[in-house]
This record gives sequence, C-alpha cells and structure tokens, in this order.
Amino acid sequence: MGVVYDWKNDIDKLELNNICSFLKNGEIIVFPTETVYGIGGDAFNDNACRKIFMAKGRPSDNPLIVHVSDRKMLEKCVKNISELESKLIDAFMPGPFTLILPKNESVPGVVTANLNTVAIRMPKNMIATKIISSFGKPIAAPSANKSGKPSGTNILDIKDELKENVAAFIDGGNTEIGIESTVVRVVDNVPVILRPGAVTKEDIFNLVGKVKVDEHVLNEVKKEEVVLSPGMKHKHYSPRTQCILLDVSNEEKIEISSLIKNKNIAVIGLDIDAKIFEKVNFYSVGKDLKEFSKNIFSKLRELDVLNYNFILIESVGLDGIGLAIMNRLIRTCGYNVVNKKEQIIEYLEN
Ligand code: TXA
Ligand code: MG
Repeated sequence: MGVVYDWKNDIDKLELNNICSFLKNGEIIVFPTETVYGIGGDAFNDNACRKIFMAKGRPSDNPLIVHVSDRKMLEKCVKNISELESKLIDAFMPGPFTLILPKNESVPGVVTANLNTVAIRMPKNMIATKIISSFGKPIAAPSANKSGKPSGTNILDIKDELKENVAAFIDGGNTEIGIESTVVRVVDNVPVILRPGAVTKEDIFNLVGKVKVDEHVLNEVKKEEVVLSPGMKHKHYSPRTQCILLDVSNEEKIEISSLIKNKNIAVIGLDIDAKIFEKVNFYSVGKDLKEFSKNIFSKLRELDVLNYNFILIESVGLDGIGLAIMNRLIRTCGYNVVNKKEQIIEYLEN
C-alpha cells in the first residue's frame, strides 16, 4: 500500500522530495491533474512504464500520454513541430489538451506501444506541474483507474483498485474538469479530434479556422477497422452495472418515469429533470454540462455498488463539452441507446 500525501491545501516540500525519489527509483505514483487523476512514472524509464501497464491491467498496445511542464521539455520528446501544431501548443498548453507528435529516440517504445508518434500533454494543475518540473523529466501517465473502469476524479474512488503497485497517492481533492483531455492529431494540416475534451471543437475552430472530429468519437469501431488512436478500440468507462443511454423527448421521459416507478433502476441526469423523475431513483450530476463532466465518473462509481438492475443515463447535446460527455457516455453504455420508450419495455422484460 502506497503512502497518501494530502496536498489539498498546499504542496509539502519534504513530501515532494520523496515523490521525486520514488520517480527516480522507477516507482509509480497517483497524482491529480485538472482533468482526471493520472498514474505515472518516469517516461524515459522502461521499467517504470511497464509498471504502469501492470498496475492498470492495460493492454500493451494502448500508448500512454507523456506529461511535460514546459515547452522545452516537450521539445525533448519530439522530432519536429509544424506551424499549425505550434499554434495549438501556444493556445491550449498548459491545459486539458493532448497533441500527437512524431516522437524522437528518447521516448521508449513501451510508452508509445511502438508507434512512431507520442501523445504529449502539459497539465495546468499546480500539483502536476510542480511534480514534473521538480522531477525534471517527463512523466508518462494514463488515467488512474483499472483499464475499462471510469477514470478516477478523487483519491477515495481509486485507492483500493490501484494500491498494490503504487508508491504514493497524492490527494489534490476533486479534479476540476472530470473527464480526460482532448486528444488531437494534425493530419494533412487539419487538426483532427481523436478524443473530445474540455478544449472543444469550437475552441480549435475559432483558433485555426478548421477542425475535424474523427468518426469513431461517436461511433463504435468495427472489427479490423484501422484507427488513428489505439484507445478507440478498447472498452472504456464501464461500471459493472449495465448502463443505457436515454435519448428521448421530454414527453417520453415522463412515460418512462412511470414505467420504471418501483423498479430497481437508477436514472442519472441534470437538475432540470429532477421533477420528471421525482418518483424514481434519480441522481443529479449537477446544474449544467460543466458539472455533468465534473461529476459523472464519480457518480457512476457511487451507483455501481448499489446493485441496480440497470442505470439509465440521460444524453446531452453535442455542442461545446457536450461532445466529450457523449463520447464517454456512449462507451459507458456499451453503445446501448434507447430512443423510443418501447425499448425500455424490452429491457424491463429481460
Ligand atoms: O486528461 C488526460 O488525458 C489524462 C490525464 C492523466 O492526463 N490521461 C489520460 O490517459 O486520459 P489515457 O491513457 O487514459 O488516455 C490516453 C489516450 C488513449 O486513448 C490512447 O490510445 C491515446 O491517448 N494515445 C496515446 N498515445 C497515442 C498516440 N501516439 N497516437 C494516438 N493516440 C494515442
Ligand atoms: Mg483512460
């Protein structure tokens, strides 16, 4: 069991020294970023990176994100940066933004699953930045959760599932954004969103006047299909309990609400629908999409231990951060979507 350091109020200097020693010794740590918690180690140390894959139970063909604290450190990991890429870096780093760039020989193949590109992110969170800059080298870190489970947005949610292989957990409180960074790769001089996040397609379009959203952001990858990002193929954000995406009109919500009354079924949605679902097990994730993204993973973990037969999750619009939320929800629900109330009846009969 790793030690737990409470840095919610401030960063403890002695503990920071310990963290740097752990990293130097090839051990791995759990630390906060503004998106979700990361489970990280020395990006230039093969063994440390292998430990990360082991701790997560992550398939070795799914590469890690390399976290840096400044542009100089970023340049130590990559070969060349185009003008467009440079513009994206200047605008969105530090922040919830990851850019896929051609890697150089300093980044070991285990980090990038032997791809010739590397995913680079410069977090904005003060604790993350301080750890990376004090360590003086980039930190490879995927989201802190067992592979396939919802990402960790606070220490309590993830401590037990990761405790065996982690030297230290750094508690920085609840993460601000709650879902992972936007992953972008520039293809034919156009930024392509491989995973949407809090830096939105609108933000990128406003900056450079062009943006594409990869078709797999909202659609399932078919067998043998070639994808731009290995993570698209893998199971993600799934609790044990079956989840179903609810994409219906308000009138149908009212009907569904009476169909599931007195049943062992939960509904997750925004405050605005609390009234419609007042007679059922309704759980709000907040008043707007920002709160939705901040709270959804923790809410899924909370409900997963309550043994509901299934959980209905209300869909949201695709504008702004809505696209990122829907990208996660579709996967949480294993692509099961209800858009007519009759489909609920089928689930109730099964
Ligand atoms: O907000 C975040 O990005 C968090 C925090 C900890 O920084 N990290 C995170 O890492 O979400 P992870 O490993 O859970 O997701 C990284 C995603 C995966 O879908 C992976 O396939 C993709 O980035 N990725 C990594 N390297 C890539 C590469 N070279 N080419 C394409 N996709 C890559
Ligand atoms: Mg992840």
